[in-house]
Amino acid sequence: MTKFNNSLTVGKAMYSEDIEGTGAYVLALHKAGILDAKELAQIQEGLKQVLNEWENGKFQEKPGDEDIHTANERRLTEIIGPLGGKVHTGRSRNDQVSTDLRLYVRKHLISGRQCLKNLILCLINRARKEIDVLMPGYTHLQRAQPIRWAHLLSSYATQLTDDIQRLEMALDITNRCPLGSGALAGHSFNIDRQLLADELHFPKHMGNSLMVVGDRGFVLDTLYWGCSVSSHLSRMAEDLIAYSTSEFGFVKLSDAYSTGSSLMPQKKNPDSLELIRGKAGRLFGNLAGFMMAVKGLPSTYNKDLAEDKRAVFDTLDTVKDSLDIFTGVISTLSIDVGEMRGALSTDMLATDLADYLVRKGVPFRECHRIVGQVVKAAGEAEGGAIDNLSLKEFQAIDERFGPDLYSAFDFESSVEKKSVRGGTSKSAVLEQLDCIERIVSGF
Ligand code: ARG
Repeated sequence: MTKFNNSLTVGKAMYSEDIEGTGAYVLALHKAGILDAKELAQIQEGLKQVLNEWENGKFQEKPGDEDIHTANERRLTEIIGPLGGKVHTGRSRNDQVSTDLRLYVRKHLISGRQCLKNLILCLINRARKEIDVLMPGYTHLQRAQPIRWAHLLSSYATQLTDDIQRLEMALDITNRCPLGSGALAGHSFNIDRQLLADELHFPKHMGNSLMVVGDRGFVLDTLYWGCSVSSHLSRMAEDLIAYSTSEFGFVKLSDAYSTGSSLMPQKKNPDSLELIRGKAGRLFGNLAGFMMAVKGLPSTYNKDLAEDKRAVFDTLDTVKDSLDIFTGVISTLSIDVGEMRGALSTDMLATDLADYLVRKGVPFRECHRIVGQVVKAAGEAEGGAIDNLSLKEFQAIDERFGPDLYSAFDFESSVEKKSVRGGTSKSAVLEQLDCIERIVSGF
């Protein structure tokens, strides 16, 4: 049972948050008259030493240390004597663990935000440099319409920018002070909750104490944020894995982010991206697993909640690592402009040909049918490309085709016609990049 009940192995990652929380708590106890100035100073000295021991790898865990809270208190009491026993007056591990975990999650969300920003800026940078590169855009993984490579990069940056906003929501919910709630019913010594919040740099303290000790909404929000980021990274990884195959040949991962095969000398595998895609599965598990753990709990604290740390620590670490690796992949990737351009085929301009007829006043549905016939006729003719048909052949299908129809068969102008906001023309993509950069610089 001792082993089963132990949460120190995982929870000790919060050693400094636990000491920080206690540091604020003893100030409030002093203000409430529980500790005199001398006692306060002694405790603060002792806490410093405990922190020091952790930081220098000198902290000795003992078999009776159930979790980080009991371990730190046990050590403090060894150092300063029975006075250490005053520290927990009016506090419970229930409000303590929530405080520690909020401090920990807050810190890691803030560094996670930086990782997100780094990747977004790296994508924007690359998109600006390679703004002129055209490639096929796909739906259903079938060639659809020509797009700019920068437009694809910009789509990645856009979805990750949404993830910064999701992060802000999780951060706001996390950034609230639970300390002073006691075990469940509140505090009997009129502790100054505002002081506790201020000391720990929480913009506000929380209300209903019953809710506070049983609440892990901030953990679930953080886990969901991790799922959102990792599902985006996973899809981006999937694109690049496909584009790096010989069948596509659009991109080449740098050696630093690929590995060889132990058997096949010719292999270069995109392991970095496969790992990112694979780890996303585990992160979804963290969310689903912890949701199952909380869904049937009676009100207030139950030990099931101790499952929170393993899940959220793993998610925060993994998301940040994945973001950093992806930034490395993007900044060192090489692209094959010729292969990308070479993969464009004129059938991808069938919609442009329909638009040509639309501009002559033909209803779009009719244009769609007419161009369908063109595609069919081209498929039956030599070469199979729609721009191979002669004007006569076009006019046999519909007499409204004129000699200027061939101007529809230009990839560059097809892309440039998509100048609507959010589209794939050069100015539209550059505008998107500026817009993302503006949003991101606000965080
Ligand atoms: N060890 C617990 C955890 O890891 C915290 C203790 C909570 N309170 C209690 N009464 N057991 O979440």
